[in-house]
Amino acid sequence: MFSVLVAYFLLLVSDATVVLDVNTTVGESTVLPCNLAVPATIGLRNLRFSWQDERKYVLYSFNRGRERPEYVNGLYRGRVTAFPRDMIVGNISVTLQNITLEDNQKVFQAYAAVLDSGGTGGYILPLREICQITLHVAVAYERINLAVNEDTRTAVCTHRGFPKPLLTWRLQNLSDPQHFLDARDVHTTAVQDPQDHLYSIRSTADISGGPYRSIICLIHNPTLNVTLNTTHILNKGGAERSLPGRTAVLILAAVVLNLS
Ligand SMILES: *[C@@H]1O[C@H](CO)[C@@H](O)[C@H](O)[C@H]1NC(C)=O
Ligand SMILES: *[C@@H]1O[C@H](CO)[C@@H](O)[C@H](O)[C@H]1NC(C)=O
Ligand SMILES: *[C@@H]1O[C@H](CO)[C@@H](O)[C@H](O)[C@H]1NC(C)=O
Ligand SMILES: *[C@@H]1O[C@H](CO)[C@@H](O)[C@H](O)[C@H]1NC(C)=O
Ligand SMILES: *[C@@H]1O[C@H](CO)[C@@H](O)[C@H](O)[C@H]1NC(C)=O
Ligand SMILES: *[C@@H]1O[C@H](CO)[C@@H](O)[C@H](O)[C@H]1NC(C)=O
Repeated sequence: MFSVLVAYFLLLVSDATVVLDVNTTVGESTVLPCNLAVPATIGLRNLRFSWQDERKYVLYSFNRGRERPEYVNGLYRGRVTAFPRDMIVGNISVTLQNITLEDNQKVFQAYAAVLDSGGTGGYILPLREICQITLHVAVAYERINLAVNEDTRTAVCTHRGFPKPLLTWRLQNLSDPQHFLDARDVHTTAVQDPQDHLYSIRSTADISGGPYRSIICLIHNPTLNVTLNTTHILNKGGAERSLPGRTAVLILAAVVLNLS
């Protein structure tokens, strides 16, 4: 499954270095994009480039037509591939595979030089930093749990995710279903698991206003820029539980997992 959720976000372009953010998901592969501005196609025998992280550990090294795996740090061995067919037009992108949370917030730098094809030992492009990419890694969503107690008029929403999810509540007006209100009296806590680094978020909301048709818990992942929601259809309309003429119908919680 190659459903990589990648976002290339241009932050700053200077003469010296292109600075980018790349957002991706644990377990995926992602391209670290980088292009040399070269006037024409270049001979691979004249190209030198390498990628390293902020600790100077080498991901990939290419010198005058040959890959140099002996320079690659064990952290990246077998995880990085380049594109020799694209290199001749100055595309020195590489693919990083098997992304883990250990890769989150790493800063990858690409350095390159193009030698003069005349064999003079001179440079068309002297060695310099071409690209700097900050990698943001998220964990794909797990389910949201939403439990509602209509007698105590409270709703509890829980979720585990990375990075720290942003949780919001919406209450749907019973008589005006197009209209949503923010829940009042919300208490949200987030605790990070030291083992797997996931955040456990738990939020309680007061649903004593109303009457409401449903309550929705929304979870936003800032790295993937995706919002997931779960809806609970309120059986008794929240506060107005004893409205005359309304039959207590058991409505099962409609759980809508939005993965789009
Ligand atoms: C990458 O992940 C695949 C599938 O999970 C696995 O088979 C492979 O050994 C991993 N490669 C590396 C270098 O970690
Ligand atoms: C560079 O090559 C990679 C791998 O083929 C490709 O994904 C990317 O679009 C290329 N970039 C440009 C600007 O051509
Ligand atoms: C729900 O909508 C109705 C009709 O627009 C409005 O009168 C009522 O105040 C709304 N209820 C809440 C709790 O906002
Ligand atoms: C990428 O992730 C970072 C960190 O969570 C976030 O600030 C940024 O907005 C994300 N970029 C996009 C395009 O979603
Ligand atoms: C997140 O996605 C929304 C649309 O779903 C878009 O309007 C917004 O610009 C995106 N944010 C970032 C940081 O890319
Ligand atoms: C919840 O997700 C559904 C399914 O994608 C979407 O249609 C709906 O607009 C979302 N609700 C809110 C309040 O964002």
